[in-house]
Amino acid sequence: MSKAHTVWVSRPLFPEVLATLAQYVEVRVESKESKRAPEQLRAKLARVDGAIVGLGDRIDAGVLAGNRCLRVIANLGVGYNNLDLPALTAAGILATNTPDVLTQTTADYAWALLLAAARRVSSAERWLRAGRWRGGMRFDDWLGVDVHGKTLGILGMGRIGQAVARRGAGFDMKVIYHNRSRLPDAVERECRASWVEKRQLLARADHLVLVLPYSAHSHHAIGAPELLHMKPTAVLVNIARGGIVDDAALAAALREGRLAAAGLDVFEGEPAVNPALRELDQVVLSPHIASASADTRRAMAQLAADNVLAALGHGPNAGHPPSLLNPEARGGRAAET
Ligand code: DGY
Repeated sequence: MSKAHTVWVSRPLFPEVLATLAQYVEVRVESKESKRAPEQLRAKLARVDGAIVGLGDRIDAGVLAGNRCLRVIANLGVGYNNLDLPALTAAGILATNTPDVLTQTTADYAWALLLAAARRVSSAERWLRAGRWRGGMRFDDWLGVDVHGKTLGILGMGRIGQAVARRGAGFDMKVIYHNRSRLPDAVERECRASWVEKRQLLARADHLVLVLPYSAHSHHAIGAPELLHMKPTAVLVNIARGGIVDDAALAAALREGRLAAAGLDVFEGEPAVNPALRELDQVVLSPHIASASADTRRAMAQLAADNVLAALGHGPNAGHPPSLLNPEARGGRAAET
């Protein structure tokens, strides 16, 4: 039986999630990952009612130009800097993301990077795999930076930042954070975290984790001037977005011994990675996988599917997408369902 709505899925997804979608809508799913030019995206979106897109799909006014059908874009990720939200809202198209379901997994991964960078896990493994552990090893080889008992700094204290902070207690750490707005006292107490000025955060953190959303305001929030304020023994972790750190300035600080180590999951211009970072042994690099546990990626995909279906008037949440970013677009095209 033909279905009233069609949904485009820009990348391969879990079959069970696609099956949920297929109960209600016609599904057009891409069979492989690919980076699409704006005109390709425009063509893919031209005759569908909804779409599930990834962070590599930039949906802006140009891509939406002339589009008459689209009612909802569901982003596979909590961060949505790939969506031009004002353009979507102006066109009456709903936009959704995947908050909450990835909070704990992403916070776990911040710690994985922090520990790996501080204790030199990746470089030690590379050395061992290269067959270089032959004879004796010096007692003062492989000296890392302690984590327990140190000061954990967090820049950006939303849900994921708070989850990173809570884990600090297990390492007996003092936790300080900077955020545009200070958290309510009760939340600070629960996270055992104190608000400080950004400059203080940079100067006092032994381990600094970046968890803020990307925007024009947070572009190069950590650049050459900020790195100058950090301790030369400090470790920097970025699980937020490329572009929040000036990667070239970071590479220079690490090379010149002005910072001890870094753990990076995101990069300016990814999937390209600044060659200067690749060359440095004290950097742990990963390909934007902070939310990539089997359970969490499945939950993100399911939430994106639930959002699309709800926006198109199907399923248990019909008319009420669980994580709507632009309620002001309601009454636009989605209302016609
Ligand atoms: C997000 O959800 O924004 C993550 O970066 C995707 O893994």
